[in-house]
Amino acid sequence: MNNLRSLTLNDDAQSLCELPVLTGTTGPNVIDVQHLYRETGLFTYDPGFNSTASCRSTITFIDGEEGVLLYRGYPIEQLAEQCNFLEVCYLILKGELPTTTQLDSFQHNITMHTMVHDQLTNFFKGFRRDAHPMAIMVGVVGALSAFYHDALDIRSKKDREMCSIRLIAKVPTIVAMCHKYSTGLPFMYPNNKLSYVENFLRMMHATPCDDYQANPVLVRALDRILILHADHEQNASTSTVRLAGSSGANPFACITAGIACLWGAAHGGANEAVLNMLEKIGDVSKIPEFINKAKDKNDPFRLMGFGHRVYKNHDPRARLMRTTCHEVLNELGLHDIKLFELALELERIALEDEYFIEKKLYPNVDFYSGIVLHALGIPTNMFTAMFAMGRTVGWIAHWDEMIADPEQKIGRPRQLYTGAMRRDVPADHRKSN
Ligand code: ACO
Repeated sequence: MNNLRSLTLNDDAQSLCELPVLTGTTGPNVIDVQHLYRETGLFTYDPGFNSTASCRSTITFIDGEEGVLLYRGYPIEQLAEQCNFLEVCYLILKGELPTTTQLDSFQHNITMHTMVHDQLTNFFKGFRRDAHPMAIMVGVVGALSAFYHDALDIRSKKDREMCSIRLIAKVPTIVAMCHKYSTGLPFMYPNNKLSYVENFLRMMHATPCDDYQANPVLVRALDRILILHADHEQNASTSTVRLAGSSGANPFACITAGIACLWGAAHGGANEAVLNMLEKIGDVSKIPEFINKAKDKNDPFRLMGFGHRVYKNHDPRARLMRTTCHEVLNELGLHDIKLFELALELERIALEDEYFIEKKLYPNVDFYSGIVLHALGIPTNMFTAMFAMGRTVGWIAHWDEMIADPEQKIGRPRQLYTGAMRRDVPADHRKSN
């Protein structure tokens, strides 16, 4: 199949059209169906895009069967071991790892944009204190376009770069503000002397009365969470960003669309759902009951943090996150805390269970990241916002790639219509109601 050069569609003995097969650098070849409708009057049908490549991309490669994840060609394992998050951001945005000078300049640029416009704080006051942080994120990140419209010409590379810097710099500040707002504490300004992650942890945990000294093991753990979440090719939220951007919408609006999509429990909401599930399980003795619920076809319950659309092998991010998780639990002496005991036992049982083995359901990155974030003192309802913080760079890189792509068109899928045929509104339709 992979050696095909083209595919001919036949109707009885007659050839309808020839579909070229395109080859990428690596990964499966794709059948180019762009002209299928024009030539045959047919559409393809692929709900959930199981077999559809929506674009060309040079950013990230995943081999779900082999458990491989590459950012710009570099294996995630090497990036997680040898680089920090901002280096990875530079790589994802620009295609190459930065030199020391380039990294210093990038880091400086990001640091100089971490503060948000003071008027933006007014937006928070419009939300209830108990609003979900993702609801606030959707509102406040969307509002950025009302503040930074000096650089919103999407055809200008310079403006696009400025938007990228602003988003990577300001999203952590907004995430921390969401947390402070929901706890009734004053917002903390960023501190330019600190690294990206230290700064974020300080904005989350310090108060004007008490400063916060970050533990280096925890800083490294959060840096790694951000690296592992930085990009994942055409996942649901990234595809949402691309689709929103395909109409020419501004980048702040597009990233907001990504945040909204990420919020769902089947996507970025999974790390929060993991913790909620662990709390519901409550005790190690209850694990078999929940495993049975997950296996029961008539029960909608799923083991949150298990399974992945693409990885049918170990998710390489989950492996790295598992190591980080154990490092953090050791550092903080938390292995014997009930919730963590529960998580580790759940992982052990599920990995040995026939159902999960046969269906290739391994713990995914969010199973462990939820546990690490909990250990870092991040409240459960903030977990998806933390994911958004890491993924922002991936969303921007894809948005930028799409805008610069000469093949770019407005995204407009078609459908298989199964509704009523044309009919007339009865003259007496109100009476018959
Ligand atoms: N618990 C129990 N059974 C599961 C689970 C699970 N977590 N995940 C999949 N299955 C079963 C399904 O019931 C299905 O069984 P069947 O073949 O007997 O019908 C089979 O495994 C395949 O599942 P699909 O839903 O078809 O797989 P898909 O690729 O569409 O879904 C998904 C992937 C959404 C991630 C799914 O595994 C899931 O819901 N997991 C829990 C939520 C989660 O952790 N999401 C985070 C994903 S990672 C991320 O976004 C960063």
